[in-house]
Amino acid sequence: MAIDADQYRKIIGSFATGVTVVTTNVDGNYHGFTANAVTSVSLDPILLLVCVDKNARALEELRQATAFGVSILGESQEGISNTFATRGDPEGGTLRGLEFSQGETGAPLVGGAIAQLECEMGEHFEGGDHIIVMGKVVGGEILSDEGPLLYFQGKYRRIA
Ligand SMILES: Cc1cc2nc3c(=O)[nH]c(=O)nc-3n(C[C@H](O)[C@H](O)[C@H](O)COP(=O)(O)O)c2cc1C
Repeated sequence: MAIDADQYRKIIGSFATGVTVVTTNVDGNYHGFTANAVTSVSLDPILLLVCVDKNARALEELRQATAFGVSILGESQEGISNTFATRGDPEGGTLRGLEFSQGETGAPLVGGAIAQLECEMGEHFEGGDHIIVMGKVVGGEILSDEGPLLYFQGKYRRIA
């Protein structure tokens, strides 16, 4: 059974996910990018992974960062998802002009997110045209009971 990248993209798009913004702070320069290839890996130790396109600006930052943040977006944050799905250079002291807080690791965390996690940087693995970035989860909290922003078949969705 043959399959090409376009068919695979369509089929895997049926695997509904949440939407996150993965953020870094390298010497006071903040960067974030929208990611749904975020997976919980382990509870002992607590690990998660993020798959990052080798062409993403984010990868340069993640290669230098000692930590990263994961902000889980709420259903009202489609605009924020689109903002961070647009290539952007790291900025000193600001996260695209949006509201944010600074976590204990120094990573910026997106304001209004429904939950957030902070990770110490873990190993990086080759994954085809992506790099698999592991994070050791060192903190986090649920911030709101707003419903999640979902991504399914190439579109944003909400829980009905
Ligand atoms: C819903 C959604 C999920 C995405 N998930 C990922 C992902 O998991 N990994 C990735 O590398 N890019 C993902 N992207 C694309 C990046 O957000 C996009 O390439 C972004 O411009 C990267 O910014 P940067 O180049 O400034 O780092 C996603 C985009 C959207 C809209």
